[in-house]
Amino acid sequence: MKKRVFSGIQPTGIVHIGNYIGALKNWVAMQDTHDCVYCVVDLHAITVPQDPVAFHENILRTVATLLAVGIDPKKSILFIQSDVPEHSELAWILNCFVYFGELSRMTQFKDKSAVRGQGTSVGLFDYPILMAADILLYGAHEVPVGEDQKQHLELTREVARRVNSKFPNLFVVPDAYIGKMGARVMGLDDPSVKMSKTASSDSNYISLADTPDQIRNKFKRAVTDSDTAVRYDEDKKPAVSNLLTIYSAFSGQPVDAIEKDFTGKGYGDFKKALGELVVEKLQPLQKRIADLLKEKQELDAILAEGAQKARDLAAPRMKEIRRRLGLGR
Ligand code: TYM
Repeated sequence: MKKRVFSGIQPTGIVHIGNYIGALKNWVAMQDTHDCVYCVVDLHAITVPQDPVAFHENILRTVATLLAVGIDPKKSILFIQSDVPEHSELAWILNCFVYFGELSRMTQFKDKSAVRGQGTSVGLFDYPILMAADILLYGAHEVPVGEDQKQHLELTREVARRVNSKFPNLFVVPDAYIGKMGARVMGLDDPSVKMSKTASSDSNYISLADTPDQIRNKFKRAVTDSDTAVRYDEDKKPAVSNLLTIYSAFSGQPVDAIEKDFTGKGYGDFKKALGELVVEKLQPLQKRIADLLKEKQELDAILAEGAQKARDLAAPRMKEIRRRLGLGR
């Protein structure tokens, strides 16, 4: 029996190369070795305000992006979170097993609530529990994510163990799957912060939807380090190391081979080559996304089938959870 994988992505409009390198590349690769369930987590995205029209377009664009990067609905289950109401139901149940203090310590919550203050939604506070519900509902063994989700995964494991101590073997305790390279792609304008779709400047990230000129310019302007050597050293040369990670992910070449190719050349040449490489790789992807978005009926059919398959897994699991807890009739 293949091991089960679950992962999710928020449909917030921009999918950037950090999402791609840190998570989506692994999602695609795991389809051949695992039984994969992938989800566009629209309920997570409404923890901050969304305009319904733009939001709905973003959901479809995110689905098209997943298909374009290589998620194959014949191999994997691909669906939208709100199509499977069991996620919300399990989140409520798990809420009753998690403490206020634990959620208050989540760094993503602390960062986001620092900006929003008293206007922070309860949904944002509860975000990690819905994420735990996503994962535990499907009995996932492995969860491919970037480094920034590590703390949420630790909480998920803790919740699963806690519930299991009262209701033995109810949940599989999942492992995070975090790649060795690219688990934390940093901002192009500041290598001390992660690449993020909510960054204040769009020079921070390369979106999968950026035009060739935007991509070339963003790499051209990307900050570098003080000396001139194209060499990987995370501590002393964080900016160039980040660019090397991106080059390696897009070219498939190991970092030392890239360092060799650029021996004696400066940052300018390296960043130019990196820009061209990423343009060349993203162009066919962008064409696929645009083509898929024209086929609304086909997208809808894929999502309807995905939702049905996900519910076929989720409904009996939820029935069992209710029974074990003594809920209902
Ligand atoms: P989201 O939508 O922010 O990001 C999707 C995936 O991309 C990874 N990622 C990165 N990886 C490397 N470098 C970066 N700079 C970078 N930025 C983002 C994220 O780690 C993630 O894997 N909470 C999740 C969505 C979610 C989920 C789940 C994930 C909801 N339920 C259940 C796994 C399992 C999130 O906001 O991802």
